[in-house]
Amino acid sequence: MYSRPAARLISTFARRTLTTQARNNGRQQYQWSRARWNYARTATTGFAAVTLSGGIAFVLHASTAPGDNKRATPSKVDYDQVRKSISALLDDNNYDDGSYGPLFVRLGWHASGTYSHIDSTGGSNGGCMRFEPESGWGANKGLNLARERLESVYRAHPGLTYADLYTLAAVVAIEEMGGPTIKWRPGRDDHKDGKKSPADGRLPDAAQGAQHIRDIFYRMGFNDQEIVALIGAHSLGRCHPDRSGYEGPWTNAPTTFSNEFFRLLLEEKWQLRRWKGPKQYEDVKTKTLMMLPADMALIEDPEFRKYVVQYATDGDKFAKDFAAAFEKLLELGVEFKTTDGSRHGKNESFWKRIFG
Ligand code: HEM
Repeated sequence: MYSRPAARLISTFARRTLTTQARNNGRQQYQWSRARWNYARTATTGFAAVTLSGGIAFVLHASTAPGDNKRATPSKVDYDQVRKSISALLDDNNYDDGSYGPLFVRLGWHASGTYSHIDSTGGSNGGCMRFEPESGWGANKGLNLARERLESVYRAHPGLTYADLYTLAAVVAIEEMGGPTIKWRPGRDDHKDGKKSPADGRLPDAAQGAQHIRDIFYRMGFNDQEIVALIGAHSLGRCHPDRSGYEGPWTNAPTTFSNEFFRLLLEEKWQLRRWKGPKQYEDVKTKTLMMLPADMALIEDPEFRKYVVQYATDGDKFAKDFAAAFEKLLELGVEFKTTDGSRHGKNESFWKRIFG
């Protein structure tokens, strides 16, 4: 009943665009208007479905396509439910070591680690990793699996943004894998495309050493202690030859958050692995564990090493420092706004943050 006038309006608009642009004879613009035409057709189908089902929930879901600009509307989202939905997606015996947790952690980190405090670009706001160019960066290989796995959570929670989801997934994963509670708050918006993504090259290169690590992390605003704490996340997960080219886990318990990465760095003997892949290290004793050249830099550089020793001997301190640094990472460049558009202060109460 409602669908026809609405569909006609959209179709007329799409056709008019086609005519004007055909005059311009611009191929690119033609493709764009074709996309718009397709969108109009999709919208027509969408409207028809709404009429048929009469379901208001459908309107909420379909009204925000992945490519739309979307303001986070925290007051509309039940984040406890979102957390539960994420937790339910973690375990899978057919994937890696039985959990998507480490991949979710890498997702949150790579979504945020593009930030530069020099020009305030990059960071988790915008959720831009779902678009080119970020989706195609070599450093982000494999993270499509995490984004695809989380899609059902996005769909089930109108008002939730991808940008919030990618970061919250990392927080939930860490907590579920035995890590510390990490303060997290909603409010990241979604951009409608990847135009605001910075140029490739902001994420660290595992083949490099201490100077490169400092260049990358100082750019985000971290100090040496925070850098070491953050890289302690390599107690989780593994390297995949079809993603980074490297192979193997760092620890014997890759789905448990711990300070084992630091203990192994100091206690095991590490040698260069002889293989056809990129330069990486293996433990002499079992040859089943690995370290990246960038990991080794943490014990080669005296300032970094100081913190490796601290964290290897004090797991609680590591967990506490990691939680603080990870919270900071996920908030880089994010302006948390109240509903009236003013900014949130860091120490405001939860309710003030939500309702302004
Ligand atoms: C110098 C800094 C870093 C370098 C060079 C680096 C490099 C890498 C590489 C090469 C991989 C393997 C990717 C794959 O093949 O699947 C990886 C995985 C991972 N990284 Fe890092 N990383 C760094 C810092 C961090 C930080 C700061 C975090 C989080 C706070 C982190 C969390 C992870 C996790 C959890 C994985 C495992 C992913 C999985 O199992 O799928 N990394 N990292």
